[in-house]
Amino acid sequence: MLNIALLSRGPGLYSTQSLFRAARRRGHYVRVIDHGQISLIIEQGIPQVFYEGTKLVGMDAVIPRIGASVTDYGAAVIRQFELMDIYTSTRSEALIMARDKLKCLQILSANGIAVPLTVMAGMPEALPRLIGYLGGAPVVVKMLESTHGVGVVLAETKSTAISIVEAFTKLGQPVLLQEFIEEAAGADIRAFVVGKRVVASMLRQAQEGEFRSNLHRGATASIETLTTEEEKTVLQAARLMNLEIAGVDILRSKRGPLVMEVNASPGLEGIETTTKIDIAGAIIENVENGVNKYEGRRKW
Ligand SMILES: Nc1ncnc2c1ncn2[C@@H]1O[C@H](COP(=O)(O)OP(=O)(O)O)[C@@H](O)[C@H]1O
Ligand SMILES: [Mg+2]
Repeated sequence: MLNIALLSRGPGLYSTQSLFRAARRRGHYVRVIDHGQISLIIEQGIPQVFYEGTKLVGMDAVIPRIGASVTDYGAAVIRQFELMDIYTSTRSEALIMARDKLKCLQILSANGIAVPLTVMAGMPEALPRLIGYLGGAPVVVKMLESTHGVGVVLAETKSTAISIVEAFTKLGQPVLLQEFIEEAAGADIRAFVVGKRVVASMLRQAQEGEFRSNLHRGATASIETLTTEEEKTVLQAARLMNLEIAGVDILRSKRGPLVMEVNASPGLEGIETTTKIDIAGAIIENVENGVNKYEGRRKW
């Protein structure tokens, strides 16, 4: 039996509930802890964590479910647990890396993973040439911090693309530009990785007249089996990002699967209800194995 801390700001959220129940089913003690309410004590030689006025002790594992709006503090909380020698199913550095779209694409592509051709302009004067490098319009303009598809725009012409980049830049929002993978036809694949396996995968199809296949944008999901090449790519991507648990999104292009993003805190609702696979159970099992193998950073 393990003593598990489930870091989540929403005890009622589907993913939190599903993980909570799976942990209980497998005989563990589990507690939902709001990382927003955690205090960190930084003191020579004795890293500590306080929650609701008391010191948290005796934990064997932490399962972080950190939302995009609180990545930095969430990562600091996870780091504190790491320093306390507690196993965590998502490492703090891996979370930070995955949350940065640009960094993620830089690391993946440099390590030979196929990604949509992507550019970032250091100065507005470079835009026309860079759009040319992408093969011209249409191009996708993406905010680095986009989630749920809000902040992803399809620019039909070169001049629209430039205007959109200028507008975002003026608002202090850095963006990247990407070739538009038209043949994906508004669909992408979400592959759910747990440990060294793809435990479930689904195809998400955007609504009519929409190119973004986010479920939050009204897309529909169906079970989809990965090709061998897709599976290999997905597992490599998760490994490069140092993630044991990951939602890897790929676009099916003419030149094969392209990794679009790697999600460090993938939602369970869409994929569990679509595939009927007990993903939360697989995550808890992976945590059990992780704790058994875990040697900690150092012994205090
Ligand atoms: N380069 C692209 N070509 C075609 N479709 C894309 C491209 N980039 C994103 N999309 C579509 O837009 C959706 C949202 O983009 P994504 O990068 O995942 O942003 P977010 O993090 O906000 O979900 C994707 O799921 C995909 O359907
Ligand atoms: Mg996405």
